[in-house]
Amino acid sequence: MRILVTGGYGQLGTALKEVLKDEAVLLTDSDSMDITDVDQVGKVFNDFKPDWLVHGAAFTNVDGCEESPELADKVNHLGTKILAQMCKKADVKMIYIGTDYTFDGTKDSPYTEDDEPNPQSVYGRTKLEGEEAVQEILGGYILRTAWVYGEGNNFIQAVLNLSGKMDEIKVVNDQFGRPTYALDLAKAIYDVIKKEPEVGIYNVTGGGDVISWADFAEEIFKIVGKNTKVTGISTEEYFAGNKDKKIAPRPAYSALDLTKSKEVGLSLSDWPSSLKNYLNK
Ligand SMILES: NC(=O)c1ccc[n+]([C@@H]2O[C@H](COP(=O)([O-])OP(=O)(O)OC[C@H]3O[C@@H](n4cnc5c(N)ncnc54)[C@H](OP(=O)(O)O)[C@@H]3O)[C@@H](O)[C@H]2O)c1
Repeated sequence: MRILVTGGYGQLGTALKEVLKDEAVLLTDSDSMDITDVDQVGKVFNDFKPDWLVHGAAFTNVDGCEESPELADKVNHLGTKILAQMCKKADVKMIYIGTDYTFDGTKDSPYTEDDEPNPQSVYGRTKLEGEEAVQEILGGYILRTAWVYGEGNNFIQAVLNLSGKMDEIKVVNDQFGRPTYALDLAKAIYDVIKKEPEVGIYNVTGGGDVISWADFAEEIFKIVGKNTKVTGISTEEYFAGNKDKKIAPRPAYSALDLTKSKEVGLSLSDWPSSLKNYLNK
């Protein structure tokens, strides 16, 4: 199987490199294939001749998207449209990675694939427009995920770094969801490639209890044996010092329902065991 990966050196791309090691994989970044450059995309498709495209590239800095909405639209929406058109032309199967920021977060039970999106941020809106482009042009797979951590800078590394410098850290306790280990997401993507379930939207996150970021920090410290105190604060308090910066609204609740993905046999793990695997790696 020949698999082209965008965002090949991001958190997900790094995990895909490990999981897809027995396949012919081409990892790309914005230098080797800028997804907004139709000629460059065409050349890579022509040279590599993929069977599948896993599209993980995105402008993922959610506050950066509020500051630069044109760039967010260009990368998350129009870049995705270019890729979907290329997949259609070259008969390549496409997997697009969607986000929990597609929802407004007002629900109090996990969002299913059929729930109505209502993004509140530029990031969420442009990622949803990417989804819509994939569905309209190609009818590809959309895998929606949330709270991803893997190799690179992420929440876990941030709280561990802070715990090296202070005895108490403040973490938001009014956003609820479920963390996803990038390696688990990569395995579920490989399952889609191998099993080819019916084309459509699938939720792919860690399973287990729905938690807040403060709960997550406490669990991290418990596993690594640190005594750092976690004090829960509201999102509003957390961003109080950022008056001059545009801050993207975060969904207060963004757990995704995993029933459909489990039914088609995507491998999903509960977040507590995945977190242990990550921290012990
Ligand atoms: N992280 C999360 O919590 C989360 C949650 C829900 C959904 N997602 C989605 O999951 C996917 C993977 O996330 P991630 O955390 O692995 O992201 P990441 O680590 O931020 O990696 C994204 C990659 O996209 C690439 N990229 C940006 N602009 C590009 C362009 N114009 N052309 C080509 N590549 C470009 C970047 O490569 P360069 O460095 O070369 O620019 C970067 O390495 C994304 O689609 C994201 O929207 C993530």
